[in-house]
Parts: sequence; structure tokens; C-alpha cells
Amino acid sequence: MKYLMLLIIVLIANGLIGCDLGAESPQGFNLPAGNNDEGKLVLVKYKCLACHTINGLEPASDLIDNADFSIVLGGKSSQVKTYADLLTSVINPSHKFARGYKLDSIQTDGVSKMTIYNDVMTVTELINLVTFLQSNYQLIPYKRNDYQSYGY
Ligand code: HEC
Repeated sequence: MKYLMLLIIVLIANGLIGCDLGAESPQGFNLPAGNNDEGKLVLVKYKCLACHTINGLEPASDLIDNADFSIVLGGKSSQVKTYADLLTSVINPSHKFARGYKLDSIQTDGVSKMTIYNDVMTVTELINLVTFLQSNYQLIPYKRNDYQSYGY
């Protein structure tokens, strides 16, 4: 029994450490450079602003005003929004939910309320879109104690 537990622990640890290098690893993921201005147009074309706000873009007046939620895209974040994070958010929204919102308002039974564009958006549009999105996130460094202010 003890050995079985040990074996299970080793297997789990191995899975956790090894997953970076497995076939599912994002390592080697690299798309061609996108175009910021084109990316902005993709956001308008697919009416992302029906459910989102992003600095510098006004939602068109014909967009439904979503009373339940309005998810902020871009801005300052202490969490890295990598290219891969953003791409995943668009093509697989239920993978990880946006933080800071009431879970009930943004998903139902583990499925994100976000529209899936996988069958309508071209790959070029997706590349431009994610390039534009990423340029809207400013990373704020994690705040550390400033030792100087304590007189060290
Ligand atoms: C019908 C509403 C709706 C539409 C339209 C929509 N989204 Fe979303 N989106 C959501 C919801 C709800 C979430 C939060 C749940 C989640 O993370 O999947 C979200 C999350 C996101 C996130 C992750 C944000 C974070 O902080 O983690 C990104 C990026 C995003 N959407 C991009 C887009 C883009 C780009 C479009 C247009 C191509 C779009 N969305 C269209 C509803 C929508």
C-alpha cells in the first residue's frame, strides 16, 4: 500500500514536471507577425465590443448593450497576458475564465458565454487580432517591498 502511494506520487509529480515538454506543450508555438491596425478592424468586424470594452474603441451603436457583463480587455495587469494566453482565450474561451468577475455571469456549466469564432474567422484575422490585443496590455511589475524606504 505504501509503495502504491509512493508510485502514485511519483507519477503525479512526473506528470506535473514533464508536462512542459510533452506533446501538449506550447513549446515551439510561433505564428507570423501580425498587423495592429488590421487587428483593430477584426475586433470591430466580429463585434467583440458587444461584450467587451477596450481602451480607445467605442462600441458601435447597433451593438446590444450587455447588462450581465462587460469584460475589460487590455489595460494594466500584474499577470502576464502572453500571446498564447490571448490566442487561447479566443479559440478556446472555456479553457480558463477571465478573473475578477462573478463566475455565474460569465459561464454556464463550465462553458464560457463568449461566442466561438473558430468556423468564421480566418487565421490571418486571428493573428492580427491577437497582436492588437497584446499591444493593449501593459504589464505592471509585481510590487516588492522597497527596502530603501525602510532605511536599509
Ligand atoms: C457574447 C459575448 C462575447 C463576445 C461577442 C466576445 N466575448 Fe470575449 N469573453 C466573453 C466572456 C463572457 C468572457 C469571460 C469568460 C472567459 O474568460 O471565457 C470573455 C473573455 C475574453 C477574453 C479573456 C479576458 C481575460 O481577462 O482573461 C478575451 C481575450 C476575449 N474574451 C476576447 C474576445 C474577442 C477578441 C472577441 C471578438 C472576436 C470576443 N471576445 C467576443 C464574452 C464575449
